[in-house]
Amino acid sequence: MNGLYKLAELDVNLVEALTDRATELRRGATPARFEGLALGLLFLAPSLRTQASMQRAAQLLGLDLVQLTSSSMWGLETSEGVVMDSDAAEHVREAAPVLSSYVDALCVRSFARFETLAADLADDVFQGFVQHSSVPVVSMESALWHPLQALADRATLDQIKVSTRAKLVLTWTWHPRSLPHAVANSTVCMAAQRGMDVVLACPAGWELHEDVLAQARALAEASGGSFEVSHDPDATKDADIVYAKSWSSLGSWGDTAGESFKKLELRSWQVTPDSLGSGARFMHCLPVRRNVVVSDAVLDGPASLVLRQAENRLHAQTALLEHMLSSTAGCESPLKIHAEVGA
Ligand code: CP
Repeated sequence: MNGLYKLAELDVNLVEALTDRATELRRGATPARFEGLALGLLFLAPSLRTQASMQRAAQLLGLDLVQLTSSSMWGLETSEGVVMDSDAAEHVREAAPVLSSYVDALCVRSFARFETLAADLADDVFQGFVQHSSVPVVSMESALWHPLQALADRATLDQIKVSTRAKLVLTWTWHPRSLPHAVANSTVCMAAQRGMDVVLACPAGWELHEDVLAQARALAEASGGSFEVSHDPDATKDADIVYAKSWSSLGSWGDTAGESFKKLELRSWQVTPDSLGSGARFMHCLPVRRNVVVSDAVLDGPASLVLRQAENRLHAQTALLEHMLSSTAGCESPLKIHAEVGA
């Protein structure tokens, strides 16, 4: 395994083995140790869960840590051929190989910048690090994908024994800000790869990018699951899992005022006890705005899985780093992979 951009690039058997290992670690299994190896954590956007859980995973694995944030670095340029006479003083063409000379794997959070849709669809910052690094690069959330969240969410579904044919509805929710698609894209593809019946519920005009819809359909076809888009806010009512997330409309990318106007009438897209059928569970990646995205009654009630999802970030990332660094260290991965995989 040479880095990670999105979960669906991994063979389904490897994903299953990683989530099984995450569950073993949650139950107290001892992680492998990689003394002498170093992990770089580069946060170009804020984080609570990812930052803290990656630091803790590195400690458990005996790794040295090199940590940087955008406020502790020079301004970073990623475009090719630019005249760097503005704020950015450092180009990714130097930053990536320099960091690669200090660490054995580099984890990057880059986030959508909402400057141009084309740049965010190209995931230019993350891909700049992949292109110019000489060590494996792991996404801690890029403009388009959040694979570590998806891995932890899949572990959560497995641990509470949600049937692979259960219905998962990813519902758009109103939010005062424009937010990226990374978690939404990753959730529908994770659930489709798991074989679930997946519904993307959103107002017309808030569909995910057509390439992501095509990927979710292809994953569902391969796994025996299903994938469909609904514009009905009540689509959650017969779901087994309601996953809430806000994201920006592709039709008003970067146009904050235009998007705010477009969603004036959409505040009722909020998860409340009425949105959930009996026995349904609620998921969200956090952080979440209470009584905007989801009501207190759901978040604080027995249906909520959000704290377990967040806890599983630690176990899933420990499992992933343990597997990835086993090949760097020349030792056997602790994963039990049930079938031959090409990873
Ligand atoms: N879910 C998640 O990635 O949280 P943070 O942004 O706090 O890391």
